Amino acid sequence: MSSTTGGEPTVRQTDVAAGAANDEGSATMDKGYAPEVRERLERDAKEIIGRYPKPRSALLPLLHLVQSEDGYVSDDGHEFCAEILGLSKAEVVGVSTFYTMYKRKPAGQYHVGVCINTLCAVMGGDQIWDELSEHTGLEHNETSPDGKISLERLECNAACDFAPVMMVNWEFFDNQTPASAKQLVDDLKDGKEISPTRGPKKLCSFKEASRVLSGLPDGLAGDGPSANGPSLEGLKIAKANGWKAPES
Ligand code: FES
Repeated sequence: MSSTTGGEPTVRQTDVAAGAANDEGSATMDKGYAPEVRERLERDAKEIIGRYPKPRSALLPLLHLVQSEDGYVSDDGHEFCAEILGLSKAEVVGVSTFYTMYKRKPAGQYHVGVCINTLCAVMGGDQIWDELSEHTGLEHNETSPDGKISLERLECNAACDFAPVMMVNWEFFDNQTPASAKQLVDDLKDGKEISPTRGPKKLCSFKEASRVLSGLPDGLAGDGPSANGPSLEGLKIAKANGWKAPES
């Protein structure tokens, strides 16, 4: 069974093997959560469900919660969500397989995304992807055999002003180059402490990020630098020219 949340993830090797064998399908090697894991998940789930008028509205955060346990939305995770929300498993699977942030096989401890959408692509994102994929030997949504790194081709991260952009566990790494991208992944593999360009100084694991996305904060949301530089350039120009938004 997988680790508790909050610490370093321990991706199950059986899950990695299952994921590697089936790129599109879900890994289905689960045998049910251990009683102490289930008890903890139920406690967290009840807190999340209590925020919504109807339990089923909590499905998206609960999918992040079970992802924080297993590093992907496992068969156990689907069953847990269905049971606690009074949904059929088919309804839960229908939702989890629609959104790309829910993984169908174990993501790496560090899930590395390269934006290949239009602006990042022309600014070098395509080149970064090609070189990083070759450097790691990983294709889209593949995880390294040691469970440390997974790669994903991402669509626009709404950070085009810092193109080309990468994300690791959904934290921004701005203005990347093929060389900086390869260095970043090598440093992550070597266990070096890495700081994102924006946000908290310390990079969390994929499981820890999933827990935050489930709505259980780690207290770091306000840490580190936020929008600056190019993001505020338009505002500065508008102020200098006395431009205002049109009256409605
Ligand atoms: S195109 Fe890459 S962040 Fe928008």
